[in-house]
Amino acid sequence: MSSNIVWHNHKITRAERATIKHQKPCLLWFTGLSGSGKSTIANALDVALHHRGYHTFLLDGDNVRHGLNKDLGFSDSDRVENIRRIGEVSKLFTDSGLIVLSAFISPFTSDRRMVRNLFPAGEFIEVFMDTPLATCEERDPKGLYQKARAGQIKHFTGIDSPYEAPERAEVCLDTSEMTVDDCVDSLIDYLLERGLIFQNGQSA
Ligand code: ADX
Repeated sequence: MSSNIVWHNHKITRAERATIKHQKPCLLWFTGLSGSGKSTIANALDVALHHRGYHTFLLDGDNVRHGLNKDLGFSDSDRVENIRRIGEVSKLFTDSGLIVLSAFISPFTSDRRMVRNLFPAGEFIEVFMDTPLATCEERDPKGLYQKARAGQIKHFTGIDSPYEAPERAEVCLDTSEMTVDDCVDSLIDYLLERGLIFQNGQSA
């Protein structure tokens, strides 16, 4: 970073941006193998929160890699940079007062910790999609596991690239045992318990 850059404090604060939306910003960080249900559950939660009147934004690996991160591949260093950028973007969106849902494999513990450390305590909620590899591989919605097993895709997470499972995620969901509605209910319950959302809709 250039030493000639000085942080500029904006006149409208983070808190004021959230207050006008009558909500408390937070980041729900979905991590897990490809096919574990990250996007499906993040989308379903997004819909549930939207219907309750909350202002949300969903960031998704496959989509962000079409734009902002289209210069990145799947080497370890590119994955680190992928998560670093998404962490910073998620931070900007929460600073704007939104509830952010980010769905990325994010296989490395150190990168998820780095994103966690960008946030005040309680605002980063790690959601571990703890669906077994066998189930993800059986679903293989994009046919990528089959290609990875055939050696046509290198460095595929869970096959020949590691996934470091979270040890203390705030929420663990196994979509081989829970329905989409079950998962959304657990997440809504978590947000209600923590006072991040309210039974009767917005209020902060
Ligand atoms: S991450 O590891 O850097 O967090 P990210 O979530 O952005 O990954 O992208 C994962 C998506 O890219 C997968 O859902 C899959 O569709 C696709 N993909 C393509 N190649 C790979 C690979 N080698 N490993 C994992 N996912 C891959």
